[in-house]
Amino acid sequence: MDSSKTQLDLVLKGSGYDIEKEIKAFDESKAGVKGLVDSGIVKIPPFFVVPENVVSSEPTPAHLQIPVIDLKDAHGDPARHEKVIQEIRSALEIWGFFQVVNHGVSKDIMEGMVEGVRGFHEGKNEVKKEYYTRDVKKKVTYTSNTLIHKTKAADWKDTLYFRMAPDSPHPEELPVVCRETTIKYTAYIRGLGDTLLKLVSEALGLNPDHLIESGCDKGLKIMCHYYPPCPEPNRTLGSKSHTDPDFLTILMQDHIGGLQVFHQNQWIDVPPIPGAFVINGGDLLQLISNGKFKSAEHRVLANHIGPRISVASFFAIYDRICGPIKELLSDENPAVYKEVPLMEYIAQYMWKEQDGGVTTLDRFRL
Ligand code: OGA
Ligand code: NI
Repeated sequence: MDSSKTQLDLVLKGSGYDIEKEIKAFDESKAGVKGLVDSGIVKIPPFFVVPENVVSSEPTPAHLQIPVIDLKDAHGDPARHEKVIQEIRSALEIWGFFQVVNHGVSKDIMEGMVEGVRGFHEGKNEVKKEYYTRDVKKKVTYTSNTLIHKTKAADWKDTLYFRMAPDSPHPEELPVVCRETTIKYTAYIRGLGDTLLKLVSEALGLNPDHLIESGCDKGLKIMCHYYPPCPEPNRTLGSKSHTDPDFLTILMQDHIGGLQVFHQNQWIDVPPIPGAFVINGGDLLQLISNGKFKSAEHRVLANHIGPRISVASFFAIYDRICGPIKELLSDENPAVYKEVPLMEYIAQYMWKEQDGGVTTLDRFRL
């Protein structure tokens, strides 16, 4: 247990509040944050409270906008292809984030997925409870705050999780309200993932198939987040600041907003664009690109309005050792990271509080 939590514990204990007991009751309710909101609370429980000043952010300056990349004809016209690769390269170098439009996934598929996720989270508690677990071996789970006993402050969100690859769950394991939509959505996300990994390979100056041949598309996890409206959005976060532990993330967010990226020492809004996906490079891309492509810190604000729904698809596989891609290294560009057993990386990532300070990847610097 870290020292700040111990201190908070003592203060709260002194006031007659037992945080561990509250967390246990919350967890045993298996109803998540939505359950708290449905019960009519007007103040958030102390285990969600972040230190003062964490939440505040300046308005996003007009000149700092996440790039929006149009994928139309990215594979037809050679000039367009070159332009898209150049845009992706610059977005991943400078921001680690960009949005894509004209990516080939229809609005019906995207909206169907959001509605399926809503159907689950707003569905019967008896059904949701069956999925509520912290068993990391399960391919389909519903939880609020996976690391609740470890974090300094819990996130104001609930998550339905699917591990879709390398071996997908049996369709019957998926909740019936979102079964068909999730299977369809997954097929499109795998296709878009491959398209993007090819473009990212080229953006690194490699053969288009390089990242796919290295297995970057082998594993796919999908997290379907539900951020209920929050009575005190200035005292907690929807998702605390973190980097993603993967190669690439494809995020679909609804119209509510709240996602922010840490860039040039400030929090920048990632505005919802209807029909767009938000793409970001994760720690593993930063590792294999030898630091060329950024894995940027990001977070989600809580909000009075809502719920907010988002679906994050993570491409990652941890059954191998990865280091900077040999073709990218030279005397002028020597390796800055070690060869990393990804199992070791992910174990460290899971057990570390990701809010500020040294990131997990920094521990593997040479
Ligand atoms: C994540 C994430 C952002 C969002 O799941 O890693 O950053 O908008 N999600 O929910
Ligand atoms: Ni993330």
